[in-house]
Amino acid sequence: MQISPSILSADFANLQDELEAIAQADWAHVDVMDNHFVPNLTLGLPVVESLLRVSPVPIDCHLMIEDPDRWAPPYAGAGAKSVTFHVEAAHDPKTLAREIRAQGARASMALKPGTPWEPYEELLPELDMVLVMTVEPGFGGQTFMADMMPKVAAVRQSVRRHGGEVWIQVDGGVSASTIEQCADAGADVFVAGSAVFNAEGAASNIARLRELVTG
Ligand code: DX5
Ligand code: ZN
Repeated sequence: MQISPSILSADFANLQDELEAIAQADWAHVDVMDNHFVPNLTLGLPVVESLLRVSPVPIDCHLMIEDPDRWAPPYAGAGAKSVTFHVEAAHDPKTLAREIRAQGARASMALKPGTPWEPYEELLPELDMVLVMTVEPGFGGQTFMADMMPKVAAVRQSVRRHGGEVWIQVDGGVSASTIEQCADAGADVFVAGSAVFNAEGAASNIARLRELVTG
């Protein structure tokens, strides 16, 4: 069970401090948006390179961009330990996953809420993680989509069938009130933005989320 706080809800003027505030997390989730694949623009490779220099935890890059076949491998080359591309945007997901692994990162594939899992099941041997989006990608602070839990369960079933160690990540609206149903459905990596970076303080929010899924 791993917690990956999304820095999308952090203070962008103080990212080094914000990363230090989540030193007890397993990962720092960095949302890269290109204003084409999603209607929002965040940051790109130069900023990720800077974050990699100061982050106390490994970086989990979630690329919400067009043409990840071209743009995703350099994030792995720069040192991100996990790189997630969206299958809806990829031209050749199998080759892309192999390139990400060849650059030394875990290869991960994301599914938007409207994208079914079954057509992509055969890609499982190429993947280290599958991200099941629990909101429409693009913005933090949206409402959790509980109707994605059957998709999480379907991915978990495929992973069991195929064997191997593939993690299942959920992202969007994950909080103290929704994290347990994600774990029950089979997720084991939990992204949380607004539920971590708020007035309660990141460290205690992370501890609470972790406690809910590890008992
Ligand atoms: C949304 C991003 C998420 C976002 C989650 O497109 O992929 O990582 O930061 O934010 P919350 O946890 O607030 O829904
Ligand atoms: Zn994300």
